[in-house]
Amino acid sequence: MNRLNGIPATALIEPAAHPTITVIRARPGPSLDAVLEVRRRVFSDEQGMVDGRVTDQDDGRGVHALAYWDQTGRAEPVGTGRLILGAGDRGEALVSWVATLPEARRHGVGREIMRFLIDCAEASGAPLVALAAQTHAELFYRKLGFVGTGRAYLVRGVEHRWMVRRNYRHSLRQSG
Ligand SMILES: CC(C)(COP(=O)(O)OP(=O)(O)OC[C@H]1O[C@@H](n2cnc3c(N)ncnc32)[C@H](O)[C@@H]1OP(=O)(O)O)[C@@H](O)C(=O)NCCC(=O)NCCS
Repeated sequence: MNRLNGIPATALIEPAAHPTITVIRARPGPSLDAVLEVRRRVFSDEQGMVDGRVTDQDDGRGVHALAYWDQTGRAEPVGTGRLILGAGDRGEALVSWVATLPEARRHGVGREIMRFLIDCAEASGAPLVALAAQTHAELFYRKLGFVGTGRAYLVRGVEHRWMVRRNYRHSLRQSG
């Protein structure tokens, strides 16, 4: 077998079966630029949900998660999501802009992004996390503890439904 410094040559070019996934909080600069690039590729180019506008008025106060995966020894940004704390009257948190690049889907990237945002919401004491799910992704969110609420509605022809996830640690604190 061809070897380079003791490493089988194939290990350097073949993607790892289980890529390492790391989620960070993105800040203004290169990491936030990477967040916007993922949004652009998914919500603008792929889905046509936005007309090239991949920012909104809440970005300045959001917690932005950026997921990297490392398949070949080089970490690449592949997913994102945003959390707004104190979005509702009762301190509810709101998640939006959740996306994984098509080539990185079904490897656990979205789950790690959501866990990062849920942990952040729970640590801040938010009683509930809400999001407007595209209904094709409802099962993804259900697996993370979200439940659907209300009727489905259309945004640009894409069906959505509100989903919520209670912070049980918060509920226990309130009742205890
Ligand atoms: C929805 C999305 C973020 C999921 O990201 P992902 O990185 O593929 O998700 P994961 O690999 O972490 O999946 C976690 C679990 O959810 C499941 N899952 C993921 N996408 C799913 C889908 N569309 N339908 C049903 N189940 C899904 C996975 O199979 C996995 O299940 P498991 O824990 O039993 O193995 C991704 O498909 C995406 O970016 N879609 C386009 C943008 C979009 O629609 N965003 C949501 C806006 S509300």
